Amino acid sequence: MEFTSKSRFYIYGVSAIAALAGLLFGFDTGIISGALLFIQKDFVLTTEMKEFIVSSVLLGAMIGTLCSGNLTDKYGRRKLMVVVSVLFIIGTMIATFAMQVSAILFGRLIIGLAIGIGSYIAPLYIAEVSPFSLRGGLVTLNQLAITTGILCSYIIDYSFTSFHGTWRWMFGMGLVPALMLLVGMIFLPESPRWLVGKNRIDEATRVLRNLRNTKDVAQEMQEIKRSLNVKEATFREIFSPWVRPVLFLGAMLGFIQQATGINTVIFYAPTIFQMAGFVDVSNSILATVGIGIVNVLSTVFAILVIDRLGRRPLLLTGLVGMCLSLTALSLAFHQGVDISVMRWVAVACTFIYIICFAFSLGAILWLVVSEIFPLNVRAAAMSVAVFSCWFWNFAVSSTFLTLLNDFGPSQTFLLYAGVCIFAFVFCYYKTPETKGVTLEQIEENIRNRLPLRDIGQPLCTKDLLTESQIG
Ligand code: BGC
Repeated sequence: MEFTSKSRFYIYGVSAIAALAGLLFGFDTGIISGALLFIQKDFVLTTEMKEFIVSSVLLGAMIGTLCSGNLTDKYGRRKLMVVVSVLFIIGTMIATFAMQVSAILFGRLIIGLAIGIGSYIAPLYIAEVSPFSLRGGLVTLNQLAITTGILCSYIIDYSFTSFHGTWRWMFGMGLVPALMLLVGMIFLPESPRWLVGKNRIDEATRVLRNLRNTKDVAQEMQEIKRSLNVKEATFREIFSPWVRPVLFLGAMLGFIQQATGINTVIFYAPTIFQMAGFVDVSNSILATVGIGIVNVLSTVFAILVIDRLGRRPLLLTGLVGMCLSLTALSLAFHQGVDISVMRWVAVACTFIYIICFAFSLGAILWLVVSEIFPLNVRAAAMSVAVFSCWFWNFAVSSTFLTLLNDFGPSQTFLLYAGVCIFAFVFCYYKTPETKGVTLEQIEENIRNRLPLRDIGQPLCTKDLLTESQIG
């Protein structure tokens, strides 16, 4: 398909607005590490309360993800994204102006609901409006937004430390992207694929023509319709024998993305640097900003190459890099970071780990889970897979400090390296290459019960002909 610069601009614009949900995801999960230091100056907090303030967002995200899938399939992606932005605004206002700890908790819980719902609708919406040849890069814009949000939260945490009412400013800054998301989503079109699913064919054709900046969308419309030649789905259908394997794949990728330890670095980087012997707090916070920057840059690299190199090479290479850097990090702690060179090895390993995560699992989880589910249960199935991601995020980030206490950093990082080995084997045998195929082709392959690894293969022309003659 040929793209004019106007159609490229439009599709990138639409995707960038939807990706603001990712920016808020990154911002609101990242901001708490700095804000907490100041909240505890204003309120008396027990350790449990502190942990709960941090994890309330993750809890909200789990609830939001699990409860909204069906609604997204029923009412549409755009309407739910409007709800997401309203929830972000309400939650942020409550947390920002809180006079009691319970209000902070409540506000953060609502923000969590918004993060959870937005975390899967944004990539799903982008995947559904994208032409297949640009889909990888466009959906990965969402991960770029997540990493940018995390970086902004680090910078804001760092620069607002001397303001009066520090943590309120830190939380309050989230209002800006939330309002932008709300205004943007009011004007964006509904997903043409969802519209076809609801039999609103004329509207879908109109939206697709605008998105592609051409009147000639007959072939794409035909493919979308072909994939819907099935009865109306119910929530239970996501557990039916033909969808179950992809549901399993999505849930496993969610587990792998989190259990390989990413958020131990994202949430606790200053702690890791201090353990490595860099005791000066401002230096370790500055190094954390460095982590945020390489996270963004490596995601940009993924966006540039993902539709050319494909998902699998990036995923597998990244996992090898993550495993090696975690093993070296473990060895450095084992040798003792009082040896100056080991200190630097530890810092270098942390940076290499982040780079490898960002161009592989970071980008690819959200992309693959937005590609592998059949249209009429896509949001519901995706919400179940993404729930796994939030659940393991919660499990890993709430056990990291305990693991450090009980087993020390060397063994803790070795554990995550072990998960990387399992992840590599799983991804090698089970993760499909979905580069350059339409979502409808993937769905067709799932219906034909192809092995998971092969569901991204293009259909042969014979199949296409037969299907289109039938259609
Ligand atoms: C993960 C987050 C993580 C972020 C780091 C995302 O893909 O889901 O848990 O904090 O990447 O960039």
